[in-house]
Amino acid sequence: MPATDTISSAAAAPLREARVATPRRFLMCAPRHFDVTYSINPWMDPAKPVDGGLALAQWTSLRDLYLSLGHTVEVIEPLPGLPDMVFAANGATVVDGRVFGARFRHVERTAEGPAYLDWFTARGYRDVYWPEHINEGEGDLLAVGRRILAGSGFRTDPRAHAEAQEFFGLPVIGLTLVDPRFYHLDTALAVLSDDEVMYYPEAFSPGSRAVLRELFPDAVLATAEDAEVFGLNALSDGRHVLLPEAAVGLHRKLRERGFEPVGVDLTELLRAGGSVKCCTLELRP
Ligand code: ARG
Repeated sequence: MPATDTISSAAAAPLREARVATPRRFLMCAPRHFDVTYSINPWMDPAKPVDGGLALAQWTSLRDLYLSLGHTVEVIEPLPGLPDMVFAANGATVVDGRVFGARFRHVERTAEGPAYLDWFTARGYRDVYWPEHINEGEGDLLAVGRRILAGSGFRTDPRAHAEAQEFFGLPVIGLTLVDPRFYHLDTALAVLSDDEVMYYPEAFSPGSRAVLRELFPDAVLATAEDAEVFGLNALSDGRHVLLPEAAVGLHRKLRERGFEPVGVDLTELLRAGGSVKCCTLELRP
């Protein structure tokens, strides 16, 4: 084969720099009181029994996976009567070691807000803020590098976006969710690196879709099939992307981008409308 051919094909498919994982610190809450006793999103059906042992086993595998990848996992004690407390992502938003508390939309979860804030105070966090407006933590506030994407439409009040911007001193970009199955931002969009995301366009209003195209023209786009198995409820450490194993299309697209998708089975927690990311609150130093 002539040398020029080799050169041109190499130029056409440049070798991507290897993806590098950075060690993370997470807060998780064991689903020891997990159940579906009320319905505040379309996934929850209190008539269907939940297998608590299976939920705990699946959650434990996720925690062990984080540990095996070199991450640190802190835990908060689950409280009886708060069956959704396992979804630690909703407990707060932590950026630069500063803690923006969560104020829940539904009365069934309101006690979780102070419970999570108490954990931070007891752990010695000094900048702990109790917000004025409803926001459901990292469920709707996702840091991408030095900016924060913020969902609204079902849970978080857009006034909390301005409040978070003032508190963190970082640009907060509001996005409107329109599909009740994807009621939190982290069910419709996942952060892959400091400047990359993947998302399901149909979960967003036309204007928000345009904003996402503007900010992330090369984003990984999810199909309905992948979104419906909660494939976007994912956690990336910069190299490994932990996501539901059923989201096969996303696994392929992530591999093409040089990420290492790691399939996780959290189907018992999906009965409450949550998966990998919902169970994981990132404690950003
Ligand atoms: N049952 C919970 C709720 O509806 C699930 C929360 C899932 N958490 C998340 N970060 N999306 O509030």
